Amino acid sequence: MSAPFYITTPIYYVNARPHLGHAYTTIVADVATRFHTMGGGDAYFLTGTDEHGDKVVRAAQKENLSPRVYVDTISQLFRDLWPELNISNSDFIRTTDPAHMAVVEMVLQRIYDAGDIYFAEYEGMYCFGCERFYTERELVDGKCPDHETEPEVIRESNYFFKMSRYQDWLIDHIRQNPEFIRPKRYMNEALAFLKEPLEDLCISRPKARLKWGITLPFDHNYVTYVWFDALLNYVSALGYPDGDLFKTFWPVAQHIVAKDILKPHGIYWPIMLKAAGIPIYQHLNVHGYWNVEQSKMSKSLGNVVEPLELKNVYGLDAFRFFLIRDMSFGLDSSFSEDSLVQRINSDLANDLGNLFSRVLSMVHKYLDGIVPRVDPPAEQECGFGLESDADSAIDAFEDYMASFQFHNALQAIWKFIGQMNKYVDVTAPWELAKKKSTRKQLEAVLSNLLEGLRVISGLIYPVMPDTAASMQKHLGLDCTGRFYLLERIRTWKSIPPGTQLPKSVVLFPRVEPDENRKASAARPEADAINPVIKDEITIEEFAKIDLRVATVVKAEAIPRAKKLLKLEVDLGQKRVIVAGIAEKYTPEELVGKQVIIVANLKPTKLMGVVSSGMLIAAVDDEGPTLAILDKPVEPGTTLS
Ligand code: ME8
Repeated sequence: MSAPFYITTPIYYVNARPHLGHAYTTIVADVATRFHTMGGGDAYFLTGTDEHGDKVVRAAQKENLSPRVYVDTISQLFRDLWPELNISNSDFIRTTDPAHMAVVEMVLQRIYDAGDIYFAEYEGMYCFGCERFYTERELVDGKCPDHETEPEVIRESNYFFKMSRYQDWLIDHIRQNPEFIRPKRYMNEALAFLKEPLEDLCISRPKARLKWGITLPFDHNYVTYVWFDALLNYVSALGYPDGDLFKTFWPVAQHIVAKDILKPHGIYWPIMLKAAGIPIYQHLNVHGYWNVEQSKMSKSLGNVVEPLELKNVYGLDAFRFFLIRDMSFGLDSSFSEDSLVQRINSDLANDLGNLFSRVLSMVHKYLDGIVPRVDPPAEQECGFGLESDADSAIDAFEDYMASFQFHNALQAIWKFIGQMNKYVDVTAPWELAKKKSTRKQLEAVLSNLLEGLRVISGLIYPVMPDTAASMQKHLGLDCTGRFYLLERIRTWKSIPPGTQLPKSVVLFPRVEPDENRKASAARPEADAINPVIKDEITIEEFAKIDLRVATVVKAEAIPRAKKLLKLEVDLGQKRVIVAGIAEKYTPEELVGKQVIIVANLKPTKLMGVVSSGMLIAAVDDEGPTLAILDKPVEPGTTLS
């Protein structure tokens, strides 16, 4: 029994539907887990959703939903997707789970008690997209490198985590464990970052600004920074500190992330663990980014790839195979439907599919579908080293899989498939079948080919579990048990002679690119949630909302609030309303306009200004568009 294995994906933000990138990481984690079980060991595979923080609150507001309803809906989209992609996760964690929240509080308190968290006033440049402060040198042309927006200057009193104290320790740890962050290019990236002095990490957000988070146990006016909360999922899911799962699996923890979140995982996370007295994880496996037709995948470019659509058109195993085969783990890759189609046709339909049906149809045609008993001299004569080719393929497969070089592992299998195809051509069973005198040779050749297919069916299991089981079934083997154990795969001649094989199937039909579908896949992504119609209300309930026409008499910007405008409106009486429309409307163009407002909304303070009412607007990806009437009416007129 090999050692236990623990693998995690990032927990995904619930601010958007799952896309190709999320599917890739999760499929890689699934492949790694399934590979581990081939050695007979126990594996624990964790995924989940990251549900607190500004980003999520803003996404919920856009959908007009409370954060709670919103996170439940999107988290469920992720949870529902994974079985569709044959993901074998052991658990699905949500950062809104009470057990997780309790662990976050415990760890915060522990680090605070140890003196590694302090309180200070800070003025800095804050990117709302990243939910963090930026230093001058991290900005590109004064803008956040990820969001390409200028961060806003914020002055706040906050809690800070003394990361600087652990900088030398982390550099030593990375240097002494060259496999800690892999592939090496990302280890070098982390070390390059650590060449500069490490700044302490702001780990709190005042509740006046953000309520949707975990309250700091030592100051109830603050919630914790979303990353401090999220990273701890990797231990809270195992029942840290006393859970049995934690004891078994944490010592062998490995994470998989893409390069976008190398810094929180390669720098913040090991330091958090060290400060909390928790052993450091073993490996951080970092992969590259999927681009789409050479461009970054993004909502605004309208090129977000939906995994379910691809799976439904091309088949699940073909989709999984393509992702694992086409990306060299660690490097970026470009997705296109044409390359997916090409891969399916060449590697799956031609190489593997043809070999499989060719061999099985010969067994049916020449041997009535019965697995032959082999004559040793004929075997010697016709072996041509196929068994040792299989052994080499298995060895290479094992080495590559264990070191996260999945694309190379598949190449090793396909090399063997090539050797099998050549073996068919060299031995020419159709010639052997012509004469009675070469019957024993024919049986030896077909027996070897069946064995080769059996080896392939086992090796493809982590990437294509359904195809592996289907191949096994057609080779007359029991595909319900752990047929994929490496030990079994290695045992040459393990299909019992005399077995009657079922009729063959086409494993992978050839496919054509679907031009209509490609056009529809390229359309802008649908809203994060299909518009959700809220619960019914009565006419009396609706009548409680006092909608009025108001004329804007004055409009001005609010200093340091890029999105807000202060409007003075007339609805028979004058009042002030703060509206988040500054990115779409200038103060000048608003003056004189008639707008529709909710006149009886409880006043609230925004950036120090009391706002008495709310403007009605349609909000989409482009921002707000004000609702207006098609001709002027008396200010104060009601709407019903
Ligand atoms: O960062 N190519 O969540 P997230 C490949 N909540 N992988 C991609 C990708 C792409 N184009 N786009 C996304 C977060 N991914 C945090 C994580 S963990 C404690 C908190 C995958 O929803 C990849 O795994 O933005 C990347 O690291 C992750 O999704 C980011 O997911």
